[in-house]
Amino acid sequence: MLAALAALTLSMSAQATHHTFSVQGEHFMLDGKPFLIRSGEIHYPRIPHQYWRSRLKMAKAMGLNTICTYVFWNLHEPTEGKWDFQGDNDLGQFIKIAGEEGLFVIVRPGPYICTEWDLGGFPAWLLKDRSMTIRSNDAKFLKITETYMKKVGDVIKPYLMKNGGPIIMAQVENEYGSYGSDHVYMAAIRDMMKRSGFDCTLFTSDGPSQSMLKGGTLPDLTPTINFGGGAPNAFAELAKFRTGVPRMIGEFWAGWFDHWGKQHAGSNIQNNVKDMEWCLENGVSFNVYMFHGGTNFGFMQGSNGGSNDYNVDITSYDYDSALNESGRVTPKYMAFRDTIAKATGEKLPEIPAMPAPITIAKTKLTQSSPLRSSLPTPVKSESVKTFEDLDQSYGIVLYRTTLPTAGKQTLTFDKLHDYAIVLVDGVNQGVLDRRKQERTITIEVPKAGATLDVMVESLSRVNFGGLIPTERKGLQGSVKLGTTELKNWEHYRLPLSAPPKNLSPVAIALKEPLWYFGDLEVSEPGDTFLDLRNFTKGFVWVNGKNLGRFWRIGPQQTLYLPGVWLNKGKNKIVVLEDSGKVKNPTIEGLNEPILDEVAIDYSRLLRKPGQDLNLTGLKPTKSGSLPEGTKAQTVMLDNPVDARYFCLEALNSQGGDQWTALAELWILDENGNEIPRTDFKVLYADSEEINGENGSAANLIDLQPTTIWHTQWQGAKAAKHPHSVVLDLGKSYKVGGVKLLPRQEGANGRIKDFNFYFSQSPFKGI
Ligand code: GLA
Ligand code: CA
Repeated sequence: MLAALAALTLSMSAQATHHTFSVQGEHFMLDGKPFLIRSGEIHYPRIPHQYWRSRLKMAKAMGLNTICTYVFWNLHEPTEGKWDFQGDNDLGQFIKIAGEEGLFVIVRPGPYICTEWDLGGFPAWLLKDRSMTIRSNDAKFLKITETYMKKVGDVIKPYLMKNGGPIIMAQVENEYGSYGSDHVYMAAIRDMMKRSGFDCTLFTSDGPSQSMLKGGTLPDLTPTINFGGGAPNAFAELAKFRTGVPRMIGEFWAGWFDHWGKQHAGSNIQNNVKDMEWCLENGVSFNVYMFHGGTNFGFMQGSNGGSNDYNVDITSYDYDSALNESGRVTPKYMAFRDTIAKATGEKLPEIPAMPAPITIAKTKLTQSSPLRSSLPTPVKSESVKTFEDLDQSYGIVLYRTTLPTAGKQTLTFDKLHDYAIVLVDGVNQGVLDRRKQERTITIEVPKAGATLDVMVESLSRVNFGGLIPTERKGLQGSVKLGTTELKNWEHYRLPLSAPPKNLSPVAIALKEPLWYFGDLEVSEPGDTFLDLRNFTKGFVWVNGKNLGRFWRIGPQQTLYLPGVWLNKGKNKIVVLEDSGKVKNPTIEGLNEPILDEVAIDYSRLLRKPGQDLNLTGLKPTKSGSLPEGTKAQTVMLDNPVDARYFCLEALNSQGGDQWTALAELWILDENGNEIPRTDFKVLYADSEEINGENGSAANLIDLQPTTIWHTQWQGAKAAKHPHSVVLDLGKSYKVGGVKLLPRQEGANGRIKDFNFYFSQSPFKGI
């Protein structure tokens, strides 16, 4: 009886028997039969390895038959030629456990992986060599990438299906169609994957539009599509591009990530369920992104940025996903589980029980010496060097020089990535923050020969868009005092890879990065959420593990501390506090996270005080009316125009309300193809709701249908029509039309009558 049971469980598990997987026409085939992939994305380094099995069991119990993971090059090769596949980086072990738990596996080795991760997974040291262009068909880059690919190939080979393992597919690159269209590059990545042993079905992932599909996939690769809502419309787009292939949502964005200083994001469960039901009914495979997001521990958070904006991802990668950051079931999980059970009739495994999170009593931390008090030997040079030049990937570099003249003066930085604390003879002069495009500061120099210290922190490298190849950290170009360029710099490298061992208490009222330390008393280890609301900005280490960045601006106020990193009894905690002395340096462990308490900074609205777009005297290039509904709308101009600037003016809304809301905006070329938006900036919006929700106009070009531009609706003076938004395309294009994606969730503000204005020169008043 027992033996029979065991045999049954084995035959049901993905790993026990030799399966076959292939693509035949419109189907994925498993063991010769059409197979619907019900996958969930889950990333091994975002979860302590001790928890992998429990999370994978949760995936199985939700009704998933597959999990999908990226491979994180910058973790596996932190320094060129030094490889790490141990502990939380043990990719092979992760795949093995997934197989043991009866799950198939999809791997996505990149090399580019985006995923809100520093430089989209590329090791920062790649940026040192300025003669090489990363993510391109550059021979040097391809050679280095192949070495990486071979390493990964060696790790995954035993787990390929043809070798009895759970791997069914591997992805080539990642959303390359949102970045470029060089098929030679894509083919090079595909071929090196084949040479490296990825002997399985290969596929690509791209946004559901003709230009992204055209740019991002190859004729012999299965094209999957990524989006966060509106599956029928998206697959209608795919059908226009290619038919006779299996249909799969490569990334079904059932959730979204957060930026520091912006409202917490999420997704609507009913809408997600509707899409999942549609997939299950129509034989469409999917990969829920994220099934379980986990945490961007350490310095690995990414950011979004273009030439006039920069937004840093928070530490939590909760993502509003089905399984929350600490691996616990959410209402979304239950809704997906019910949907899958109903559609398939399968009896799903019981949901494994999880121990409750713990609390840790309020603990006072002891102040210690400033970060600046113990400095390594500096690297000297005439002009400033970047982190990458200094062979440093993360943390802080202290730039030091002497100031030639006394008095109140202006200090100007050519390029500052990303956050600088400026000190003159040890006195804090203020902070410069790239998120706010700050590059100048007035300083008080007590005497000629005073010491200037600029402590520059990397807030993380951009992981999406055109800045990737040049996203270096620290100071670049010139630093000027008035009009005099400052020379002869000392660079002190502070990679913060571990906090100092011997911290001793000293009481000092300094306004500069300071260490705090103490012991957390834990009677029974368990998951907890450290409340950092008494501190302002910095990093936390517990028993040597870097929990990530905290920042009082929110929306994240607590840091996830996994129970497996705690000991019974005393636990060493070290906090690096950027601002120096805080009033009440106490910390406590809560039994639930705070991820949605944000201090809105209205100075970050696109419309600056005094700005008022003035279109008088201009004739609209095109006027018209959009139909109601969620479908993307293409409006072609009567005649193509040469233009660099675009203004969309919304005159009213479908429902007669006073708002404007829009999900995505594309500019089309003469042939109706979308112009890549990598160099686009949103210059102006007459109004944005950034408190009641994240309604920033920047959401118009972020690819995600669930993020929208929404004009202000909170407060007494919510703005009225007409509403307008202005894009700078970065250079002049021959423009043929505009594509608009209405908001998908909720009908308020959907545009009815509109004017388009195209121009070669900037519009007046802004
Ligand atoms: C894209 C990328 C993912 C991730 C999501 C947003 O789809 O492929 O890596 O960045 O956007 O979370
Ligand atoms: Ca959007």
